[in-house]
Amino acid sequence: MQVTPEELKLIADYVKSLCGVVLDSSKAYLVESRLRPLVQELGLSNYRELYFKAKSDATGRLSNRIVDAITTQETSFFRDQSPFELLKHKLLPEHADRCAKASPLGPYSLNIWSAASSTGQEAYSIGISIKQVYQDLSKWRIRILGTDISDAAVAEASYARYSQLALERGFPREQINTYFKPVDGMWQVNDEIRAMATFRKFNLLGPLTGLGRFDIIYCRNVAIYFSPENRRTLFNNLADQLNPDGYLVIGSTESLLGITERFKRLEYLNSICYRVTNSAQVI
Ligand SMILES: C[S@@+](CC[C@H](N)C(=O)[O-])C[C@H]1O[C@@H](n2cnc3c(N)ncnc32)[C@H](O)[C@@H]1O
Repeated sequence: MQVTPEELKLIADYVKSLCGVVLDSSKAYLVESRLRPLVQELGLSNYRELYFKAKSDATGRLSNRIVDAITTQETSFFRDQSPFELLKHKLLPEHADRCAKASPLGPYSLNIWSAASSTGQEAYSIGISIKQVYQDLSKWRIRILGTDISDAAVAEASYARYSQLALERGFPREQINTYFKPVDGMWQVNDEIRAMATFRKFNLLGPLTGLGRFDIIYCRNVAIYFSPENRRTLFNNLADQLNPDGYLVIGSTESLLGITERFKRLEYLNSICYRVTNSAQVI
């Protein structure tokens, strides 16, 4: 079932309004491969009918399913490795030093946001990295918040169960038993790591209210799907969510050049991270 140019425009405008993901005219194949199963399951004859059915569904269930289907949830444990080396060798020690100076006896609070957490691998990789650096977490108050617009991804992340195949994509085989336990043919993140993380549905292009402030934000491989204008809005908003000494980590193929001047780029251990500049000037 082929999507016509008119249908593609209808669906693209609708998807952009729901989650900011841009589908240009080269993405017809993507709309077809990801939405065809939904069109067929609902007994509809084309993508136009899917659009009108979703628009008239007051429960919002169908639009959620469209977002789940159209968004790319590709992720893996320790994806790109270097952002987690950066965390272990620079961001965490620096943060711990600041906490020790401010309150030598603790507790040390650490708030990290995995914005666009997909199925949770990034948030749990952060938790595992923290545990690898600080074996004894008794004086730490750690909160890792994972958020994503996809209901299905948030549910999977909260469930914290992964297949052997998912673990083999990035997780060192010899450490599996340290951080996971076998449950019903899957591997479940162990309780100590799992307790650090909570997940909730959240649209990064809506107002970023009610989340609190963060010491570190990982926002990787999501803004690439947005328009330049939405990227600018997102990163300017993220600047406001960081504590004064906080860091932003973005995807290895992403850059803030020409997007916003709210951040200063820093290089460390072959990794890039960003700090908020004092200037609130926005380009
Ligand atoms: C490619 S995954 C990135 C996952 C992880 N950050 C990583 O780098 O491995 C992109 C995620 O962004 C989510 N997403 C897309 N648009 C979003 C929006 N407007 N708000 C929040 N999440 C969004 C998708 O559901 C998807 O799970």
